[in-house]
Formats: sequence, C-alpha cells, structure tokens
Amino acid sequence: MLRILTIIFPALFLYTSTSLYAESLEALYQKDCAMCHELTDPDLIVAPPMKAIVSVYKKSYPQKEVFVEHVLKYLLAPSLQNSLMGEKTINQFGLMISQKGAIPEDKLKALIAYIYDKY
Ligand code: HEC
Repeated sequence: MLRILTIIFPALFLYTSTSLYAESLEALYQKDCAMCHELTDPDLIVAPPMKAIVSVYKKSYPQKEVFVEHVLKYLLAPSLQNSLMGEKTINQFGLMISQKGAIPEDKLKALIAYIYDKY
C-alpha cells in the first residue's frame, strides 16, 4: 500500500503542478512578452510577432533544449551578433532590451519552453 502511495502522490503532484504552471506561464507571457510581440496593427507594431520569431529559431534549433539555450542567450544579452532575426529586424525595431535581472533566469527558461510549445 505504502509503495503504491509513493508512486501516486508524486505523480498527482507533478500533474497538478505542471497544469497550474502552464496557466501561470500564459499569464507571465501576457505580462512580459505579449505587449511587444503580439501586436498586429501595422501602425502599432514594435517588435516582430512571436510566431515569426519562433519559426525562425526552430529552423536553426529544432530541438527544444537547444532552442531554449539560444533564445535565453539572446534575452540575457541582445546584440546583432547574437541575433537570428538579423540586421533588418534590429534596424526596423531597435534592439530588444536585455531581460538580465528583470526576470529570473529559471522563469525565462520556462517562458521560452512555453513559446516553443505554443508556436
Ligand atoms: C518592450 C518590448 C519587448 C518586450 C517586452 C519583449 N521583447 Fe522580444 N524583442 C523586442 C524587439 C524590439 C525585438 C526585435 C529586435 C531584436 O531582435 O533585438 C525583439 C526580439 C526578440 C527575439 C528575437 C531575437 C533575435 O534578433 O534573434 C526573441 C527570441 C524575443 N524577442 C523574445 C522575447 C521574449 C521571450 C519576451 C518575454 C520574456 C520578449 N521578447 C519581450 C521587444 C520586446
């Protein structure tokens, strides 16, 4: 009996905590990224749509772990050198502000994994 419980409880916990986490990640995404990356009005747009960015990054880094690693690297130190979107994007919108110190690194990683799954 005890043995069954030690299997069931962690599984249950993992299930509820990941589904709660997914909800809060959407909220976090809305709060921290969507204001710039989900604008569609051409007059208001301030950054490339996230869907387009994810598609470019997935072409170079199809594996989730590698994708997360490279996007994280960019968000902590945006530069033309680190950019996959390239010079045209940066000239059009200006360089993205670094997220270093603004959002904890583990939250950033979870957010990046989230956009990988979302798009
Ligand atoms: C204040 C507006 C703003 C916010 C908020 C913002 N970004 Fe950006 N982001 C930009 C702009 C502008 C660019 C295009 C210029 C560039 O690539 O640096 C960009 C580019 C990017 C790129 C492409 C980098 C490249 O050039 O290869 C990624 C990936 C990205 N953002 C992810 C995110 C994520 C994830 C979040 C939320 C944690 C976020 N951004 C929040 C403005 C923003």
